[in-house]
Amino acid sequence: MTSHLDHDYLRQALEHDVIAGLTATPKWLPPKWFYDAAGSELFSRITRLPEYYPTRRELAILRARAADLAAVSGADTLVELGSGTSEKTVLLLDALSAAGTLRGYTPVDVDAVTLEAAARRLAERYPGLAVRAVCADFERHLALLPRYGRRMVAFLGGTIGNLEPAARAVFLKELRATLRPGDTFLLGADLVKDPRRLVAAYDDSAGVTAEFNRNVLRVIDRELDADFDPEAFEHVALYDERHDWIEMRLRATRAMRVWVGGLGLAVSFEAGEEMRTEISAKFRPERLLAELESAGFEVRRRYTDPADDFTLVLAAA
Ligand code: SAH
Ligand code: AVI
Repeated sequence: MTSHLDHDYLRQALEHDVIAGLTATPKWLPPKWFYDAAGSELFSRITRLPEYYPTRRELAILRARAADLAAVSGADTLVELGSGTSEKTVLLLDALSAAGTLRGYTPVDVDAVTLEAAARRLAERYPGLAVRAVCADFERHLALLPRYGRRMVAFLGGTIGNLEPAARAVFLKELRATLRPGDTFLLGADLVKDPRRLVAAYDDSAGVTAEFNRNVLRVIDRELDADFDPEAFEHVALYDERHDWIEMRLRATRAMRVWVGGLGLAVSFEAGEEMRTEISAKFRPERLLAELESAGFEVRRRYTDPADDFTLVLAAA
């Protein structure tokens, strides 16, 4: 595995984000710090919840369209950003294999533990496949990813929606700049729908998303020697109709002072104070296509599931 995220780099990046987020008003934390091994496991549990439809919808689209994606892209190498457990990926790899083009797979993720386990599993499943896992931050290291072959860069699950709009525009432009003629970009995005279904998907009755949300506090406690009491924070999920996004927050249930030992930083929370931990943008198809085009992509295919809940777009460089 290649890693652009050694311990010092991760520590510095986390310190930077925690200082910026916890000294701001209102406080916030970026979502990439949810994903240590425990956070990735909680996300996997989320994907199986009855309320969380995106994974099932995207799987349904991939089942129906993977062969077409393989044919239209002509890709021999799949690069997957934010690959996690790579569970849906097998549908793409099977289709590329059936088309006779498949040579390489490069999963890219910030969570080294989950990434390595997925890479090992896929190397065993596809003998002869060149699996080159890269532990990296897709907001910082796109230019460092391997450039072998005719690539399809997949960004699945709706993770694009976890980027702030300005960061999303930068990400799309940077990705476009790393692609060569013949390369393609496969993007999965969640669509605008009834806010009640959206809120239920991010506030499940079993409380798994609440634990996922609190996990960011456990990561900060462990990595920066902080004394957050995760149980003193309530999970909040609301839909912001003006921005078309879900917002996850953590609400302090009492006034408290948190000590972040690794930073020598004391942070005060008022009772009821809310801290934003994630946005999850929901898209209108025309807006999504316009964003891709303004980043320099040419849209080749757009698919959706029968309920029109989720979309997959294949764009050419
Ligand atoms: N693609 C999978 C997993 C989505 S969960 C699916 O569709 O189910 C989001 C994944 O992106 C997690 O595995 C997380 O570790 C990873 N991730 C989040 N922010 C990242 C970043 N900035 N760079 C690289 N990976 C990131
Ligand atoms: C990874 N990402 C697309 C998920 C989402 O739906 O925004 C993360 C998540 N947050 C809460 N539940 C799932």
